[in-house]
Amino acid sequence: MAENATLLRTAIDSAGDAFVAMDGDGIVVVWNRHAEELFGHTVEAALGKGLAELVFPDRSDARQLLAGNESAGQWRCRSRLRRRNGEEFDAELQVATTTIDEERMTTLLIRDISDTLFAEQQLVQAQKLEAIGHLTGGLAHDFNNILGIIIGSLDLVAPSIDRHPENELLAAALSAAHRGADITRALLAVARRRALKPQPTEVNELIDEIIPLLRQSAGKSIELSFSNNARNAVCSIDAGALNNALVNLVINSRDAMPQGGQILIYTYTTDILPHALAAPLELKPGPYLVVGVDDNGAGMAPETAMRAFDPFFTTKERGRGTGLGLAMVYGFSRQSGGTARIQSAPGRGTSVQLLLPIAAAAMTKNRTKGQKESAQELRGHARILLVDDEPTLLSIAAQWLKSLGHTVSCAADADEALAILAEHRFDLLLTDIVMPGSMSGLALVERCRGLYPEMAALVTTGFADGQAPTLRTRAPVLDKPYTRGTLGRAVLEALDNR
Ligand SMILES: Nc1ncnc2c1ncn2[C@@H]1O[C@H](COP(=O)(O)OP(=O)(O)OP(=O)(O)O)[C@@H](O)[C@H]1O
Ligand SMILES: [Mg+2]
Repeated sequence: MAENATLLRTAIDSAGDAFVAMDGDGIVVVWNRHAEELFGHTVEAALGKGLAELVFPDRSDARQLLAGNESAGQWRCRSRLRRRNGEEFDAELQVATTTIDEERMTTLLIRDISDTLFAEQQLVQAQKLEAIGHLTGGLAHDFNNILGIIIGSLDLVAPSIDRHPENELLAAALSAAHRGADITRALLAVARRRALKPQPTEVNELIDEIIPLLRQSAGKSIELSFSNNARNAVCSIDAGALNNALVNLVINSRDAMPQGGQILIYTYTTDILPHALAAPLELKPGPYLVVGVDDNGAGMAPETAMRAFDPFFTTKERGRGTGLGLAMVYGFSRQSGGTARIQSAPGRGTSVQLLLPIAAAAMTKNRTKGQKESAQELRGHARILLVDDEPTLLSIAAQWLKSLGHTVSCAADADEALAILAEHRFDLLLTDIVMPGSMSGLALVERCRGLYPEMAALVTTGFADGQAPTLRTRAPVLDKPYTRGTLGRAVLEALDNR
């Protein structure tokens, strides 16, 4: 008999879950080793106590769940439970009732499912952001073209009007259109359709370089430090976009610490293993660089943290925040093959982490520094064939290029371009990627590579379309909407790199 009891005890203790039994009055009569570990109550402390008082923060919950479906005799449910130290967690309960010697017995197998729920929540969140991204991307693409036309037209008429108050109205219209273009650019980043230029980048070096800028964004009352734990990690990223992401995060932290505080920027490497439980489900397994920004500011309530990556979600007063900062950070991380995550609690500060895939082979670094040339330096004498299906954009770009000294011919689509090319020689083909007709801009560039190998190519696009045009065509990409300056510079660079 004693042997049987030991055997039973060993079997119950070896169960993978917490195993608990209670009698008809709800008093605990069995409490296995896993139950001790899960709840923090020893078997001596638990036996003889009411189960509802011991582990259920909400007694009515307990009554309902434990009454269950009597006729079925066995059921599963989920509930919040409490450990001895007061901490609550989500649990799955497998409940069964039996009658032994006319006494009702209820047994429970209890499992902590916080990790599973967290992973599920993250997945739902990632899917939601995916859907928002799709919607935003289409809209932003159209707006980009519209704003390109508005800005270009206003830019062209501005010099010819020197009357008051027309020129003031014009300046107001131009500045509003530029603001619109800024928001559109942000939306393209949210939708992961920004035409990024990823380069193998040693991220730590990049962060070292921009620390002064980040300190300036944080302001004097905040102490900002950088802890570098991943020397030499190379990621294929767009340096400018990472720079923007970090500035956004630092500004958020600054806003959460109006009285001052600390910001810690840190890096470390981690491996995402296949099938790992709490790993972000949207990531491919492999080595990642974690870039974190921690602050000891106000922190966020769970409802805020859940929505913080949503575009246009802001808790700031009107006019102070657009709610696009974190949405762009998330969009940038996803477009770079990684993800972003938040941990925050009210009064305990906030930690936002970017996970960026580490480039397979350590490649040579190549970062372009911000440059600004004068109009004089942007001048040239190239023969340029310009292809865009949007006539107004075409005419604006042509006028800009002519004003910079180039000779320009225009075509509305790839077929027209090929017809012109058959008659005339050009130094540069400048084409939009998305065009109606049988041939896209990328296909046109490919065709010209074979026919006119000495001609340089430059493609323009409102969005990267997920197909990395640079890789497929090896042609540089110019982001829309462009200005006379960015167009002029891109043209000269494309000619130089021919
Ligand atoms: N470090 C932080 N500490 C506390 N709350 C934060 C922090 N970062 C973001 N939040 C919360 O998340 C919301 C969304 O942040 P997000 O950067 O997307 O937009 P925003 O800062 O409000 O506006 P924008 O960045 O467009 O100027 C913020 O309004 C704030 O409530
Ligand atoms: Mg922000």
